[in-house]
Parts: sequence; C-alpha cells; structure tokens
Amino acid sequence: MNEVLKINDVSKAYGKQTVLDKVNLSLEQGEILGLVGPNGAGKTTLMKIITGLIKKYDGDVFIEDENIRDNKKHNTKQIGCVIETPGFYPELTGYENLLFFAEISGLKDKSEIDEIVKKLGIESYVNKKAKKYSLGMKQRLGVAQAVLSYPPVLVLDEPTNGLDPAIVPQFRKFIKYMAEEKHTTVLISSHILSEIELMCDKVAFIQEGKIIKIENLNKSEKDNAVIAFVTSKSEELKSFFNNKKINYKILDKDKIQAQLNPEELENLVLSIAKENIPLKSVYEVKESLEQKYLKTMGDEQNA
Ligand SMILES: Nc1ncnc2c1ncn2[C@@H]1O[C@H](COP(=O)(O)OP(=O)(O)O)[C@@H](O)[C@H]1O
Ligand SMILES: [Mg+2]
Repeated sequence: MNEVLKINDVSKAYGKQTVLDKVNLSLEQGEILGLVGPNGAGKTTLMKIITGLIKKYDGDVFIEDENIRDNKKHNTKQIGCVIETPGFYPELTGYENLLFFAEISGLKDKSEIDEIVKKLGIESYVNKKAKKYSLGMKQRLGVAQAVLSYPPVLVLDEPTNGLDPAIVPQFRKFIKYMAEEKHTTVLISSHILSEIELMCDKVAFIQEGKIIKIENLNKSEKDNAVIAFVTSKSEELKSFFNNKKINYKILDKDKIQAQLNPEELENLVLSIAKENIPLKSVYEVKESLEQKYLKTMGDEQNA
C-alpha cells in the first residue's frame, strides 16, 4: 500500500515539558486514522507540526515521501486542515469565502464547491455572512474549505466539537466519502472516542505525548476471539478445557470464557456435547473500543 503520511520519532518540548515523545505513525492512502486522547495529550501539537504551523520539533514528517522540512511551499496543496476555530472573512458569506479560497488554491472547476457544499449539508446557511455562524457552522465551513482542492492529506482537529449530534452522522459519511472516493488520507482527533470510532480504520491512543496503542478497527482479530460458554455443569467444562489445554477464565458460576480461533468453535461445541456437557449458550464476547481504551489508559497509569 501507498504510504502517504509518515511521522518518524517526532518529539516536541515546551521548556522542560515534553509535549510529544517520539511519536511514530504511518498512514496509507485513503486511510482514516483517529487520534484519541485526553485534553493536553498532545493532539493539537502533533497536528500543528504535520501542517507546518509548528516548525521547531525533533524527528521527521514525510508527506508523499517528501520531508516537510524541505518543502518551502509549506505543503498548502498537500494538506487541508482545520485546527482550532477556522477564521473566515466575516463580511463575506460562507460561499464567497469558499470561492475566495478556491481562487487562491487554484481550483478551476467551481462546480466542485457546490458538490462539497451539498455533500456536507451546509446549503442552508452557506449564503449567510460568516460572522453570523455558530462554532459548529464554522467547523463545517472549515472542512469544506480544507477539502476544496482535494488534498491528499486532510487533518481535522476535534471537528465534531460544537457539532449538533444530529449532524455528526452526515459529517462521518462525508469523511468516509473523501477517503473512499477521493482517496484522501485523513487524520482526525477527538477526546471522545465514540464520536470518531465509527468513521476510522484505525485509532491511535495518545497520552502525555506518547502513542500508547494503535487499534485496527477493520480487521477483526479473526484467529483470536473470546467466547463465553454458559453451562450448568461448569466443573465438567473446566476439566474439558484443562484436558484440551484451552486457556479459560471463570466469569460466573455457570459462565466460562475461553480464547480461541472461531473456526474451531463448531468442532469444539460438538466435542463438548459428546462429553454430555450441556450448553445453554455460546457467544462471542466483544470488548468495545471504549472498554479497551479505558483499560489501555488504566494500564498506562498503573505502570
Ligand atoms: N504554545 C505552547 N506553549 C507551552 N505549552 C504548550 C503550548 N501549546 C501546548 N502546550 C502544552 O502542550 C500540551 C499538549 O497540548 P495540546 O497539543 O494542545 O493537547 P491536546 O490537543 O491533546 O488537548 C499541554 O500540556 C499544553 O499545555
Ligand atoms: Mg487540542
């Protein structure tokens, strides 16, 4: 696959405070990566480095194999971004603002603007003056502006901040459309995992400037599922697992969970039945990302 954005051992300190500590990330073309972490974790700082807003840092950032330090043009064509509250010309309408940005980014086909406006669902207010916009309206106009020239990389810092929850699904759909149809590589941050979980291919957890875990959301860990077995004969089931050398954990007096390859499940259930161990229920225990996140953060704090 085509690596579009590469972050190599990026560190940043303010005075004595290390804000980013050897961050490594790699994003492929059309991939959506969520950067999730509590306030102060370093998300905005990392995004500012990638977009060239912060120039003093250790390590390297490559966009399409080019080190951004060597790119004098500041990768304006390579990156679209919304970091913090986007600024607009207050006396112009949203549409006029977009036209202006289209002009300076060299966009020839103005019909693209209409398409983006429609896909983002901002038609209802795009002809009002920007000074009248709420935070959520500005955020979405900011996203429209960021994608105008279809940059290969899109960086969005907490874009769902201030968004009406009813709008979030359409926003998610738009980001997925950009990634799938326009092959845009997207880096998106949030301190609320559930908000971006649904639109990302991967989630990187960041805490105190360190990436502590990267979770792949698309590829389920197929060869390793946690299966719960409910039975009135748990003692028998335990010895069965012992004999088969299957690792298990007792959840309840009649509930045992084991980690195994789901492809082996059918045969396993048959063998359990042959041993005359009745099963009331067999199901996969799915850990939500929220639980994983809390566990990861907890482990880190206890370390
Ligand atoms: N310009 C700055 N000067 C000093 N400290 C800063 C500056 N910008 C950010 N920080 C500190 O860096 C840390 C990370 O901030 P930030 O990247 O904004 O986190 P996040 O976006 O994850 O909430 C925080 O402790 C913050 O106070
Ligand atoms: Mg931030």
